Amino acid sequence: MLNIQQLHASIEDKEILQGIDLRVNAGEVHAIMGHNGAGKSTLSAVLAGKPGYTVTQGSVTFCGKDMLAMSPEERSHNGFFLSFQYPVEIQGVSNINFLKMAVAQKRKYLGLPELSAAEFLKKIRECAALVEMEQSFLSRSVNTGFSGGEKKRNEILQMAMLEPKLAMLDETDSGLDIDALRVVANGINRLRNANNAIILITHYQRLLDYIVPDFVHIIEQGKIVKTGDKSLALELEEKGYQAVV
Ligand SMILES: Nc1ncnc2c1ncn2[C@@H]1O[C@H](COP(=O)(O)OP(=O)(O)OP(=O)(O)O)[C@@H](O)[C@H]1O
Ligand SMILES: [Mg+2]
Repeated sequence: MLNIQQLHASIEDKEILQGIDLRVNAGEVHAIMGHNGAGKSTLSAVLAGKPGYTVTQGSVTFCGKDMLAMSPEERSHNGFFLSFQYPVEIQGVSNINFLKMAVAQKRKYLGLPELSAAEFLKKIRECAALVEMEQSFLSRSVNTGFSGGEKKRNEILQMAMLEPKLAMLDETDSGLDIDALRVVANGINRLRNANNAIILITHYQRLLDYIVPDFVHIIEQGKIVKTGDKSLALELEEKGYQAVV
């Protein structure tokens, strides 16, 4: 599904990604861990096509297509979803209208018929229930005044509505209380199937107790320096990076 080869990327002439190689197949969950500043969010931003990053070397294929040649919208329409480490607030656009627009545009791009108002409402209610979000949040401006944990929950609501093939979740667990962590993790698990894949960026093994990864990768200075199974995260928690990498 995703094949990253020797990806190098810079911000303002500073090379941050220094040769990332990563393959993700349908049905898999990958966890990416690493020190602050290692390049995890940069990798997610480059994959999403955020402006300001220059790919200087390497390739990314997503579902057989050259991902780096696509606009951010095309990447999303083709099934890539990024949940931000710091979700953005959009004042004046209600959550429900934002999602209506996003879903409609994606369906149009894919040549699917528009959802009727009733179908859309049913879907958004189901998805809100999945993350145990009260209906009142649907009419509020996107993330505006949401608490940190509410924003993270809202990201998973967006994911549920857009049904991505590949979801990259950047520190979705940060700032969540214990109950919210379980709710969000259960929501993510319910969205998993044999046809989609998830990349979780996290600092803590705790999330991986709920969402069990097939692979754990450690990034250091813009490179994957070690890959293992879920036991690597446990080892990391116990011994720290210095002993493991
Ligand atoms: N716009 C920018 N200008 C200069 N340097 C930047 C810019 N954006 C990111 N960087 C640098 O790139 C490096 C990687 O940052 P990135 O956000 O990818 O780290 P991270 O692994 O996600 O860290 P964290 O765990 O703290 O979220 C950092 O040293 C950061 O300061
Ligand atoms: Mg980050």
